[in-house]
Amino acid sequence: MGYNIDEFKIILEERLSKKRLTHSFNVADEAVKLANVWGADVEKAYVAGLLHDVCKEISRVEQRKLVEKSRKDVTAEEISVPQLWHGIAGEVYCNTDLGINDDDILNAIRYHTVARKGMSLLEEIIYLADLTSADRDYPDVDYVRKLCKKNISDAMLYALQYSITDVIEKKSVLPRHTVEAYNQYALSERK
Ligand SMILES: [Fe+2]
Ligand SMILES: [Fe+2]
Repeated sequence: MGYNIDEFKIILEERLSKKRLTHSFNVADEAVKLANVWGADVEKAYVAGLLHDVCKEISRVEQRKLVEKSRKDVTAEEISVPQLWHGIAGEVYCNTDLGINDDDILNAIRYHTVARKGMSLLEEIIYLADLTSADRDYPDVDYVRKLCKKNISDAMLYALQYSITDVIEKKSVLPRHTVEAYNQYALSERK
């Protein structure tokens, strides 16, 4: 508690392009909105949203070094897709360099790209805030924004369906974490 938000903002300004900096602020704002709707910790939502892409623009070599240090269930599929490294790296960086030791914030950053089964409310909020922030403009973004406020599990299922379809269309590798997350939400839908 009592995070030094100003310090985090200075670090982000040093590490991110203008565009990604704006995205990070937007995700933090969207995460706060969702935290208010669903009764999650607003400060944690803001911090996790702000920092989720903190390692997105460092070199792949640097990302990879941080990934090696991760203790959070890194899969072979994730290792094979460099675009997925920044979430894993971001968690390690926030823990070791920024001194964040709140597991919920760290997991929200770690799993913001792939999701996983058994996500906490904060993890769901960051995953969805990243897809519905003000800078996003894919065709049904307004529908997803509404769904996030109406039923967060339905929003997760919808987002995962979209993401998995996209991965398969590109013949890319589907991380086990993403499949397990999808199955969890799909199964709960059938009950
Ligand atoms: Fe990201
Ligand atoms: Fe992002």
